[in-house]
Amino acid sequence: MIAPRSAEYDLRERDAIREVLAETRPDLVVHLAAVVGGIGANMATPGQFFYENAAMGIHLIEESRLAGVTRFVCIGTVCAYPKHAPTPFREEDLWNGYPEETNAPYGLAKKMLLVQLQAYRQQYGFEGIYLLPVNLYGPRDNFNERTSHVIPALIKKCDDALTSGADSITCWGSGRASREFLYVDDAADGIVAAAARYDGEEPVNLGSGQEITIAELTTLIAELTGFGGEIVWDQSKPDGQPRRWLDTTRAERDFGFRAGTELREGLKRTIDWYRATREDATQASIGSGSKS
Ligand SMILES: NC(=O)c1ccc[n+]([C@@H]2O[C@H](COP(=O)([O-])OP(=O)(O)OC[C@H]3O[C@@H](n4cnc5c(N)ncnc54)[C@H](OP(=O)(O)O)[C@@H]3O)[C@@H](O)[C@H]2O)c1
Repeated sequence: MIAPRSAEYDLRERDAIREVLAETRPDLVVHLAAVVGGIGANMATPGQFFYENAAMGIHLIEESRLAGVTRFVCIGTVCAYPKHAPTPFREEDLWNGYPEETNAPYGLAKKMLLVQLQAYRQQYGFEGIYLLPVNLYGPRDNFNERTSHVIPALIKKCDDALTSGADSITCWGSGRASREFLYVDDAADGIVAAAARYDGEEPVNLGSGQEITIAELTTLIAELTGFGGEIVWDQSKPDGQPRRWLDTTRAERDFGFRAGTELREGLKRTIDWYRATREDATQASIGSGSKS
């Protein structure tokens, strides 16, 4: 098994893709590489998020087919769902509307890879499957304040306030939007189970099936970090998608996946990891943030 870094093989370059496939000759490719970020990063660099995610995926799928790869697992995203999809989001509703505007370029770029895999299955019999993970979190997440997602951003805000003695933190939006979160180890288990047991053309949600508002999440993170100050909502900033909650029955039915980590437990582990490696985490994320 190899997990090459972008410095070794830049997947935006078709030659680099050919090279890594020729050198490693994989039977199975799990396409996880992407440029990702929170609402701020998506709004700041929508063109880059569209182009790089589309280009990496399109070329990797085509070159994998040409190289004789027997199975391909493509990691999509919940950002591909329509802005107002009925909750819980069912895979059947994936095409019933345009995604929420702030992350549409990212979500649609990745959604095209589902179309590509379905077309390749039909024309070439290429065994590609497509998974739709909900928001992910856990140890080793990106804590760079410019590019991080909501959980690391909130952990860092609370932790910084405790260090500086600030008596309030300011958070984006109204707090009324909802999200669902999947712990990193559960996401990895789900991907492995799907790779081993699922071979259908239909996309499959990967989630925990638990919805929580951003205000509730913030209160929980404040409690777990020990921050007791005021939480101020900056409503001049966007909420992003109004609700996110996945129907996870297909993953359970088709490959027996069910998330096992409670949010509270997963958050505790993430906070512990961040505090143990605070300096390294911030420095490493600043480095990787330059690409997104
Ligand atoms: N995070 C979430 O909440 C979430 C939710 C749903 C789906 N997903 C999907 O899950 C996957 C992993 O996301 P993540 O949050 O773990 O992202 P991440 O931590 O930023 O990791 C992305 C990876 O992509 C690699 N990469 C980026 N540009 C590349 C390039 N040009 N060539 C080669 N590799 C490149 C990076 O490699 P280097 O570090 O070596 O640069 C990095 O290891 C992505 O497909 C994402 O769309 C994430």
